[in-house]
Amino acid sequence: MTTKEDLIKKLENKTARIGILGMGYVGMPLAVVFAEKGFNVLGIDPDNRKVDTFNKGISYIQDVPSETVARLQKAGKLNMTTDFAALAEMDAVSICVPTPLRQTGDPDMSFILSATEQLAKYVHAGMVIVLESTTYPGTTRELMVPMLTHEGKAGLEVGKDLFICFSPERVDPGREDWTTYNTPKVLGGMTPACVEVATAWYAGAIQTIVPVSSPEAAEMAKLLENTFRMINIAMVNELALMCERLGVDVWEVIDAAASKPFGFMKFTPGPGLGGHCIPIDPLYLSWKMKALNYNAKFIELASEINTNMPRYVVSRVMEGLNDRSKALKGNKVLVLGVAYKPDIDDVRESPALDVIALLLQKGALVEYHDPHIPHIHHEREGWKMNSIANEDLMKSVSAADVVVIVTNHKSYDYPAIIEAASFIFDSRNALGKWGGKTNPKVVRL
Ligand SMILES: NC(=O)c1ccc[n+]([C@@H]2O[C@H](COP(=O)([O-])OP(=O)(O)OC[C@H]3O[C@@H](n4cnc5c(N)ncnc54)[C@H](O)[C@@H]3O)[C@@H](O)[C@H]2O)c1
Repeated sequence: MTTKEDLIKKLENKTARIGILGMGYVGMPLAVVFAEKGFNVLGIDPDNRKVDTFNKGISYIQDVPSETVARLQKAGKLNMTTDFAALAEMDAVSICVPTPLRQTGDPDMSFILSATEQLAKYVHAGMVIVLESTTYPGTTRELMVPMLTHEGKAGLEVGKDLFICFSPERVDPGREDWTTYNTPKVLGGMTPACVEVATAWYAGAIQTIVPVSSPEAAEMAKLLENTFRMINIAMVNELALMCERLGVDVWEVIDAAASKPFGFMKFTPGPGLGGHCIPIDPLYLSWKMKALNYNAKFIELASEINTNMPRYVVSRVMEGLNDRSKALKGNKVLVLGVAYKPDIDDVRESPALDVIALLLQKGALVEYHDPHIPHIHHEREGWKMNSIANEDLMKSVSAADVVVIVTNHKSYDYPAIIEAASFIFDSRNALGKWGGKTNPKVVRL
């Protein structure tokens, strides 16, 4: 039997050993879906705290219940370690490490590089490797493949001994209808044999595989998805700015347009972009294009508009206070919701951090409440803050000169908040359906 046939057989009968490099928001749900479908999975992550928490049978990812972790661990289907040497035993490895931006706004490839370096030490014939981290087109072919085949491992032929693919992750944290299992998975391989092997693996745990002809097509598909969102959000943010000048209710306009059953997709304005993906991923593409002397104009413009939204929110808060004969300086501001989107516990790149930073710079006395985020810190500015306690929420709402809704978590009792507050700036239209459109206490974006 050839290496390829042997590996496919192991993957199909689920005796293949699966390694997940990077057990965060993406890696953990992926590890769980493989383990649930009968694979033996080992998560490898350098973060001791994550491994310790996991080993106590506790999940540190909101979408993965602790009972699931404990059950799969007990069944011996899912384990976790900090020991990269375990890679030597793996038949199949998914790489789910972070791809943030550096301070300069350029891609930070250090996590992909370090994970691949580790993998290069243990790579062997009969291994399939899938990169899942979002990255610029060309990463798999230009960066990973040479490291895995040349650095001490010359002789491993891709498509014959070693099978390498890119498959973008589409997980939407907090979402229950579309999960890792039923969200179609795009997969592009270095060769058709690479796609064949990786499909034998992924199809054993994920409902629909969408093969494409190259890793670059798969890398670019992910960037198209997220650039599409980023640009549409920027467009609707600009629409909000225009509507304000025109004295037109942007939310009413959007709902009216959304009644069109075809050719329109609803996006809503807000205080800016957040999360590990939408604000960052398109910049990987524009960075790559710069190297090819091409200026990705839509991305740059959208980024500029979205980045300016926290400043716009603060200027509207100041205007609202001014209309009530108050200054921002020295007055109390309560920010509600700091997660980057509703009902999740992730604050990465959240526009709330910028909104709070700007409010503080203007001399406001800021506190925040978020049922999902007990602490925040602003890396660049160096400040830290704790969420006010749940039991103190309504007292703070009453005491605030302005309540700013940055993230519209479902758990808030909005009618009670309207009742108790003296002035609310609502950047998400959380209050529209509670009479916020006509209530003089409420100003919406
Ligand atoms: N979070 C999302 O909603 C989402 C959605 C789609 C795609 N993505 C992409 O998936 C990738 C991972 O994102 P995430 O949100 O899971 O990040 P994360 O920070 O939650 O998790 C990454 C994990 O990788 C670990 N890690 C760091 N260096 C490592 C190394 N050398 N080897 C092994 N593990 C290492 C970290 O300790 C961490 O646990 C990123 O490229 C991201 O853009 C994220």
